[in-house]
Amino acid sequence: MKALTWQGRRDVRVEDVPFPTIERGNDAIVRVTSTGICGSDLHLYEVLGPFLDPGDVLGHEAMGIVEAVGDDVDDFKPGDRVVIPFNISCGHCFMCERDLFAQCETTQNREHGKGASLFGYTKLYGQVPGGQAEFVRVPHANFGLIKVPHGPPDERFVYLSDVLPTAWQAVEFAAVPERGSVAVIGLGPIGQMATRIARHRGHRVIGVDLVPERLELARRYGAEVVDLQANGHAPDAIRELTSGRGTDSVIEAVGMEAHGAPLAQAAQWAAGMLPDAVARPVFEHAGIDRLRALYDSFDAVRRGGNVSIVGVYGGQLDPFPMMDVFDKGLSLRMGQAHVKRWVDEILPLVIDDADPLGTRDLATHRLPLSEAPRAYELFQRKQEGAIKILLEP
Ligand SMILES: NC(=O)c1ccc[n+]([C@@H]2O[C@H](COP(=O)([O-])OP(=O)(O)OC[C@H]3O[C@@H](n4cnc5c(N)ncnc54)[C@H](O)[C@@H]3O)[C@@H](O)[C@H]2O)c1
Ligand SMILES: [Zn+2]
Ligand SMILES: [Zn+2]
Repeated sequence: MKALTWQGRRDVRVEDVPFPTIERGNDAIVRVTSTGICGSDLHLYEVLGPFLDPGDVLGHEAMGIVEAVGDDVDDFKPGDRVVIPFNISCGHCFMCERDLFAQCETTQNREHGKGASLFGYTKLYGQVPGGQAEFVRVPHANFGLIKVPHGPPDERFVYLSDVLPTAWQAVEFAAVPERGSVAVIGLGPIGQMATRIARHRGHRVIGVDLVPERLELARRYGAEVVDLQANGHAPDAIRELTSGRGTDSVIEAVGMEAHGAPLAQAAQWAAGMLPDAVARPVFEHAGIDRLRALYDSFDAVRRGGNVSIVGVYGGQLDPFPMMDVFDKGLSLRMGQAHVKRWVDEILPLVIDDADPLGTRDLATHRLPLSEAPRAYELFQRKQEGAIKILLEP
């Protein structure tokens, strides 16, 4: 079968790999019909190479049709339409019983001191072959899989694998007070959906990014926006909009690649990720700092406020502004999304034909799997208006 494989930094290729097979009784094989490329895949593409082997199959946002199930899978049968959560959790261990599915102890990667296994996500997270492929093996399928109805297009459901539960958790962790305000730093797919969910709950949203079409999309869904290119310092702009105080909560949806090199090498490569005309003013006005988005989050939130960090961080030696965080009395929550914890709350919204979260208005590109290498490049460089890209195997 065909699958998208990692080969090296900024080098992914579609190759022939062996068909997956049922290895354990609780496995299912799913024929993938749609699969997203995520901001988290960009970390693999750019900086996490040391934790990957050439040939690793990427992808953790897949849905499709069940092809085969193992003997222990009672709740699913071939032909069912399913979405596959990005984290692999058993549903019955100490952590799963507490709804902490991203920390499942059955699939935990203890040798690396990490949490639950993830599809298509490095040796640190189990090196499980991912879903940017024609077929994928799903361990712990009986608990993990999410059944969705036949009929509506894939886009209505595919974001249940990651984008929607992640954005939902980000808003939950932000604990925005009633009629309160939240700044969403970073308006990629996660920031877009966090914006829509927060608006859906009646919160005031101020979105920050530097890519015009991402700002525009958030504005269409009711956010006020701050353009990082026009306002060098986002926290000042946010304070201006909030009586000098800052927002009640902040969602950080950027992660370790904000403008800078996560592993302290050449900060310049970050400029290469952006079209020149966008990159230059960023360097001139916004500064270069791999923790820029995190610092801006701590700065922009009001005293006593909540910061919800959904962007992925990987460094060990990053300076942490402890004095400010302590003095402002901030509450912080963060981590991988516990996908299944939120699915029951989100499902009614995506099954609703009125599509209140605009699931059909996020993907800018639907490309065949064979074009995945080009899709990665478009998404990383934010070219051709790319905001979310779905691949169709
Ligand atoms: N916690 C989880 O479970 C989870 C799940 C999925 C994704 N993520 C992470 O969420 C983050 C966002 O993912 P995405 O798919 O939306 O990716 P993305 O890369 O498309 O989004 C990041 C956005 O941040 C913007 N940006 C960069 N620097 C900025 C700055 N200093 N200030 C404001 N905006 C800035 C970019 O222009 C881009 O629009 C990534 O770090 C990803 O790894 C976490
Ligand atoms: Zn993802
Ligand atoms: Zn578990």
